[in-house]
Amino acid sequence: MQTVVSGIRPTGKLHLGNYFGAVRNFLEMQENYRSYFFIADIHSLTTHPTPGDLHGSVRQVLAEYLAMGLDPEKCSLFIQSDVPEIMELYTYMNMNAYLGELERSASFKEKIRTQKDNVNAGLLTYPVLMAVDILIHKADFVPVGKDQAQHLEMTRQFGNRFNRLYDVDFFPEPQAYSHTGELVKVPGLTGQGKMSKSGGEGDAVFFDEDDKVIQKKIMRAKTDAGPQEMNAEKPIEILNLFDLMGLVCENDVIEKFNDDYNNCTIRYGDMKKQLAEDMLKFVGPIRDRIREVKSDDAFLSSAAKIGAEKARESAVKTVKEVREIIGFRKFY
Ligand code: TYM
Repeated sequence: MQTVVSGIRPTGKLHLGNYFGAVRNFLEMQENYRSYFFIADIHSLTTHPTPGDLHGSVRQVLAEYLAMGLDPEKCSLFIQSDVPEIMELYTYMNMNAYLGELERSASFKEKIRTQKDNVNAGLLTYPVLMAVDILIHKADFVPVGKDQAQHLEMTRQFGNRFNRLYDVDFFPEPQAYSHTGELVKVPGLTGQGKMSKSGGEGDAVFFDEDDKVIQKKIMRAKTDAGPQEMNAEKPIEILNLFDLMGLVCENDVIEKFNDDYNNCTIRYGDMKKQLAEDMLKFVGPIRDRIREVKSDDAFLSSAAKIGAEKARESAVKTVKEVREIIGFRKFY
């Protein structure tokens, strides 16, 4: 059976981008793969070194994963810091990751700009830790959004380099996975790029958010003055709205607004109202379930426990083999 690994940082509630880029695939893959899905709490320290309530943030994402349909019996749903072997392999892999390549990573370059006051070593070696998350379970597939493609390329590089250095055929080459065939990029509502937690007020639609808040954000999404000629090219903020409709609206609804756009009769207010209505239909049941699961301590705790046990079993085996490959031997 092939193996799949993926994770999400607990730096806020999950949004539509996390769902369609990642969780949507997890749900499908847990049925047919040896699956490891985790909460990347150690990674989150690179941007939030003194999180006010780390446990609460992890709990939120754990409840969201479960509410969205991840089944602790079918997959290993675990918390990164529950698997200390990850830190051991991270140490070994750091010895074979080079400054030049780490500095070239797009996410590192972005962080140098966005968190000038905290350019820590963990940020630089973020791709090594991510590679370890994946390699420690010898994953074949990694379901992620488009924004993680470069990290995955680096993962392959680190795994292949290990194989070459020690002359072994140990780590497989993990491939990105998306049920659509292409990696997904869900746009934000502010017209600035991908939907993200840090995209500012109003950019992301979160699952654990009240109807009114979601409605308001969608109605405020950026639009333009409207098409001035038949079949005009759509500007980015309008393309984004159509992309979002593609996630939650029926095809005939999308076609109607597309036709309206092409013959210049579109009313953006109506389009956003429709998008908000369909969005609430999609988000509402998941939100209700998140709120139920969040208060179910016994379910959260048993899910995290069996997840950690399954993940550790696989991680301990890999690290033991890596120690042997590198040449550590005990004298006692
Ligand atoms: P993170 O926490 O930023 O995002 C979690 C997952 O959600 C996807 N995603 C999106 N997909 C499409 N459109 C968007 N707007 C959007 N926003 C977020 C991300 O691609 C990701 O799949 N480095 C990772 C966490 C991580 C990880 C791993 C992932 C740590 N170790 C090992 C896979 C395997 C991250 O920061 O994701």
